[in-house]
Amino acid sequence: MQPTHRPVISATGLFTPEDSITNAELVASFNAYVERFNAAHADAITAGEVEPLEPSSVEFIEKASGIKARYVMAKEPVLDPEIMAPRWEERPDEELSILAEIGVEAARDALERAGRDAADVDAVLCAASNMQRPYPAMAVEIQQALGIDGFGFDMNVACSSATFGIQTAADYIRAGNAKSVLVVSPEITSGHLNWRDRDSHFIFGDVATAVLVEDAAMTPAVHWDILGTRLKTVFSNNIRNNFGFLNRAHPDTADAADKLFVQEGRKVFKEVVPMVAQMILDEAERLELDPQGLRRLWLHQANAGMNRLIAQRVLGHEADADESPTVLDTYGNTSSAGSIIAFHLHSEDLRPGDTGLICSFGAGYSAGTVFVRKEG
Ligand code: COA
Repeated sequence: MQPTHRPVISATGLFTPEDSITNAELVASFNAYVERFNAAHADAITAGEVEPLEPSSVEFIEKASGIKARYVMAKEPVLDPEIMAPRWEERPDEELSILAEIGVEAARDALERAGRDAADVDAVLCAASNMQRPYPAMAVEIQQALGIDGFGFDMNVACSSATFGIQTAADYIRAGNAKSVLVVSPEITSGHLNWRDRDSHFIFGDVATAVLVEDAAMTPAVHWDILGTRLKTVFSNNIRNNFGFLNRAHPDTADAADKLFVQEGRKVFKEVVPMVAQMILDEAERLELDPQGLRRLWLHQANAGMNRLIAQRVLGHEADADESPTVLDTYGNTSSAGSIIAFHLHSEDLRPGDTGLICSFGAGYSAGTVFVRKEG
């Protein structure tokens, strides 16, 4: 017997910032900073008191990550070797916050694609790894801007925020507590990235996505059945950000690098790939789905090598771009939004009955799977 309330994905939405930074532009700015730093500390470097900084390279970035460019909300200050951080005018409280603004853009896109009136939405979950402030919740601000009568709250599970949000929304629908839930993931990751750190300065980009999770009874004819969701967390210090209101140091100061994103990239690679591949295989078995029969994988977009390995373990062969599309090359790592961008941009061509997997993984560690089947 079908359960009374069945959650589906009615539509997704995307907001992409206007400005993009190529690897060449990024490396030119980083290397200018390195030159200035080494010149300013020449005596101390000669005396062996300060380590000279090493330049970055376009070739390394592309080979190590698959990233060729990333969108940002504030290009000029990020590329200015004297600033190397996003900057914008602080807005008065009466104005929509920047994070809410891009979330609203993505949400409107999803609502329009579903042909849904905001008045029919019951809840907004702002699921992202970088909230602009602790309260009032970004979700409540987005809810108000869209004219939604109901409730909203923020949730942060780093790169897995969107899939955790989808399961939370699906559970509200299964329980009959809501019929239509917007999961909004505005990610201004340029704010948590240490643009002066050679090992990671190329990783992140800004974007916003939205996923409209609804009761099958009200969804448009073309939609995605949610076949099953699974979440997992395992504590690790290998991806960490110590920024918070209990820390006094300003994140821009050199001695406060741990108040921005830091990672042990190689350990992350080694530990997360097997964990996620196994989780996908276990969940496919639970759902009685043949993983090799999946038409497409929309994987978290952190690193092309990680995705290649995970896809291979799941599908049993090297996946091509059609089976495991990448948006890393143009968007970079957009934290929780990555797998949703991939789904949003590369799902229209699937046929009714085709199955696929949205999967995220990242800090925590955290990982989430959402198996879907196209209907209509
Ligand atoms: N430009 C040129 N060379 C660089 C460089 C840069 N920007 N950054 C590092 N290197 C060099 C290092 O100096 C090192 O040189 P050595 O071997 O001579 O000592 C070499 O490249 C390897 O450095 P390492 O940091 O170990 O690189 P890596 O190959 O592991 O790639 C990541 C780094 C971060 C791209 C990779 O580990 C990764 O993607 N891991 C997955 C984790 C992830 O993406 N997490 C995001 C959050 S989910």
